[in-house]
Amino acid sequence: KTKIFKIENLEKDRVMIEEAANIIKSGGTVVFPTETVYGLGGNALDEEGARKIYKAKGRPSDNPLIVHISDPHELYKIAAFVSENSKKLMDAFWPGPLTIIFKKTKEVPYATTGNLETVAVRMPSNEIARKLIEMSGVPIAAPSANISGRPSITSAEYIEDEFTKRVDAIIIHSDSEIGLESTVIDMTSEKPIILRPGKIGKKDIEKVLGFEIEEDSSLKDKNTPPKSPGMKYTHYSPNAELVVVKGSETEIVSKIKKEIELAKNGKIGVICLEKYLGYYDGLGISLGENHIEAAKNFFKILRKVDDIGLSKVYIHFLEGDSVADAIMNRLIKAAGNHII
Ligand code: TXA
Ligand code: MG
Repeated sequence: KTKIFKIENLEKDRVMIEEAANIIKSGGTVVFPTETVYGLGGNALDEEGARKIYKAKGRPSDNPLIVHISDPHELYKIAAFVSENSKKLMDAFWPGPLTIIFKKTKEVPYATTGNLETVAVRMPSNEIARKLIEMSGVPIAAPSANISGRPSITSAEYIEDEFTKRVDAIIIHSDSEIGLESTVIDMTSEKPIILRPGKIGKKDIEKVLGFEIEEDSSLKDKNTPPKSPGMKYTHYSPNAELVVVKGSETEIVSKIKKEIELAKNGKIGVICLEKYLGYYDGLGISLGENHIEAAKNFFKILRKVDDIGLSKVYIHFLEGDSVADAIMNRLIKAAGNHII
């Protein structure tokens, strides 16, 4: 019953996007590509639409959805107040992977915002996503398209399995360009505050605003509860046990080699950048050559780990830039804080 639209070319396959847009317009759910991760969309202004999303995802309904728009003008229908600083961020980063929290208007139902007075908004750069929103004629509420608790989906190969029969339609295109969910920033408090790290980092934002901003303290201290409702849930978990390995490059390699030696049973794997594969005698799985590639491959690899049937996986800690920090934020949650 789920319609599958495989898009190759935006112009040629326009009719498929139109059909998907009609499904959204008439209250249905559509999985669609964005530059960050695939999204599970419905009409953001329709309570019933929002409810269907939570149901398809198996998500607790106090976890608010991100509302996607195709043009900055559409913001004024859903945001009650847009500050000068917010405008600066929109000019600099939209379309793109930055989600901004505003005070909501009455148009946005509480079902979409998880009962909050605020609404999260993003204008994606992916052209299929924008065309879908534009043709629907409504903003599209969309969480990441994964069953709640599972790794986000960034590649076409996992979508049909996970969502056939759960949604009305699926638009399949290529792998997500960025591979990590958007940075989320709250612009409703006196000081802007980053609630979820992403490719756009704190420094990138500070450069545009011209002053220092804050990061939700739960990102630094795991005992502080996060401000963003969604950040408190278990996330991204594969079935395999994940262990994050910290230290200098040589410390990481020697710790993992020792663990492999001591291991008695089970299938072990090591996830690391390409350049370290040589240390692990065929047990290594490459994240790519650099952090940008690692971000792009990360969620796909978390799913691969279960496809291969690994029982325990060691992963090199990455650091040095906002992309590495954003990957580690997801990884540490996926590993349930297991760090050695
Ligand atoms: O890249 C992305 O943002 C993807 C694509 C599909 O656009 N979407 C995505 O949505 O990651 P989701 O639902 O998986 O994550 C939304 C995050 C959650 O952590 C949620 O708690 C937070 O944004 N959020 C949404 N509305 C909020 C609000 N009003 N106040 C605070 N946090 C909010
Ligand atoms: Mg998600």
